[in-house]
Amino acid sequence: MSDFEKKIIEFKSRLNSTQDSNEIELIRTDIFSKNGFLNSQFKKLGSLSEDEKKTFASNINKAKQELLEIFRVKASEVSDRDLYEKIKKEKVDVTLPEKEFKIGKIHPVSQVIDEISCIFSEIGFSVEEGPDVENDYNNFTALNTPEDHPAKDMHDTFYLDENMKTLLRTHTSPVQVRTMLKGKPPFKIIAPGRTYRSDSDQTHTPMFHQLEGLHIDKNINMGHLKGCLNYFIKEFFEVDKIKMRFRPSHFPFTEPSAEVDIGYRIEKNKIIIGEGDKWLEVLGCGMVHPNVLKNCKVDPKNYQGFAFGIGIDRLAMLKYGINDLRSFFECDYRWLNYYGFDPLDVPTNYRGLSK
Ligand code: PHE
Repeated sequence: MSDFEKKIIEFKSRLNSTQDSNEIELIRTDIFSKNGFLNSQFKKLGSLSEDEKKTFASNINKAKQELLEIFRVKASEVSDRDLYEKIKKEKVDVTLPEKEFKIGKIHPVSQVIDEISCIFSEIGFSVEEGPDVENDYNNFTALNTPEDHPAKDMHDTFYLDENMKTLLRTHTSPVQVRTMLKGKPPFKIIAPGRTYRSDSDQTHTPMFHQLEGLHIDKNINMGHLKGCLNYFIKEFFEVDKIKMRFRPSHFPFTEPSAEVDIGYRIEKNKIIIGEGDKWLEVLGCGMVHPNVLKNCKVDPKNYQGFAFGIGIDRLAMLKYGINDLRSFFECDYRWLNYYGFDPLDVPTNYRGLSK
């Protein structure tokens, strides 16, 4: 056996007998570094005859490939083992009591949904839910929305199929349809949830939250709607006075329709409500269109009522002085720590909403 072969066997047995990553690195240097074994062998080639050169060079290359393969296998063995050791060391016994208690926070959107539910439950509304993925019928057609309505455009609506039949609901109004179709009047419900539109800036995000309200009974009129919303806004902001305006508007599913804006101003990068000359639109509302009632198997000759759709995130911005809607959905723990709520401070009617 040549010296070369002996040396290769020695390297292989050194490698096979170790599990230590430092030792493996040392062997790697001994073999592959600039002054390592393989280079020293390549240097010898110059002094050999043509024939010897060929055989020896091919021997060195063969040995090099073998050694590289051994290193590859070894490296993965050792890194698997190191990882396993690390995981074993970091294992946490979850049954042990916590020494330092860091409590999580409730997101302002969840808080506001709870607050709004409290306020409406006080005057007899119950909570309904509907799916985020809706069909075109519930989201538009049943709601008296014409085929060529701009909201049906690809730019506004996220469609989930080529035929534009399945979509991410653009508002919570389809829950009106679902509620009426599955029950019998009177209806007095609210429905909070996620809604989606292709839009993004300081006051718009592609996913946002709405809360639908629907009250259908005999003899319900616009006065009831205004009274209900006045009550809600005052309760929600927990103040005696708020700057609020009803603006005539248009929705295919209500007639007449209105939008409600709240007055605010920005001071030191924070929103201050109830004063100032800026307006933020927070809800759309109106008397449910007779066509919607007919589509939902409710007789418009006997029943009528109002509906509203509240922008939950915007109300949260106004109430809690947050001036960029996008920050709601960035999942920044520091933000949540600052704006979030104590999970044990659940809003209730008798104990108060946010205080
Ligand atoms: N769905 C409307 C919107 O998203 C809001 C609305 C709901 C208006 C109910 C009137 C009645 O803008």
